Amino acid sequence: MKRVSQTSKPFSNQIHNPASIAPALKTIAALRTAAHDCKGCDLWETGTQTVFGEGPSKPQIMFVGEQPGDQEDRLGHPFVGPAGKLLDRALEEAGIDHSKVYLTNVVKHFKWIAAARGKKRIHKKPRYSEINACRPWLDAELRVVKPQILVCLGSTAAQALLGRTFSVTRQRGQLIPAPLAPVVMATVHPSSILRAPDENARHQQMQAFINDLKIVAQLARKAKAA
Ligand code: URA
Repeated sequence: MKRVSQTSKPFSNQIHNPASIAPALKTIAALRTAAHDCKGCDLWETGTQTVFGEGPSKPQIMFVGEQPGDQEDRLGHPFVGPAGKLLDRALEEAGIDHSKVYLTNVVKHFKWIAAARGKKRIHKKPRYSEINACRPWLDAELRVVKPQILVCLGSTAAQALLGRTFSVTRQRGQLIPAPLAPVVMATVHPSSILRAPDENARHQQMQAFINDLKIVAQLARKAKAA
């Protein structure tokens, strides 16, 4: 009897070098399909799946975070866990329609380590080599989406896209001249607000985040009217 290979994915589907594939693809759907089998770095081994960017076909604003979290990894969609829910609330308060934004991450697999006790998976910051390996997907998303406004959420995204010396603490809310989009800004990552030490600090950090997003909303209205 003929033996059937137990490997679930044929080798030809596996992408070891996204830079050789991503630049030629012209739609987010094609990029998402290709990225599904990405093995450009080692994170595919521990991540459940590639979590690619999502949004409408012609979004005005693109938000870039660090990497999918635990829930995003399980569900396969960006910003659907606690940080995503906080982002949703802040977008609403700032008057930005969530359905009109494209959400993605610098790294498309969840990097984690097992908690000392229990089954919890603890988020681990990606290395530069992992960020660089994943970068062709993000560059391709920027090329296809062509956002009018690009917002980096947190220092991993900001430093990946705006340079390693970029300081979110000092430069948040400022317009940064960059060739990535007509308007480029960075603000904090929503998960930093979740880590605030107490309710008062959380409230203040949330208000500051909403204020940054209100600048984005204003710029979006201005760009639309122009
Ligand atoms: N944090 C991120 O940076 N991205 C997500 O998609 C979720 C949490």
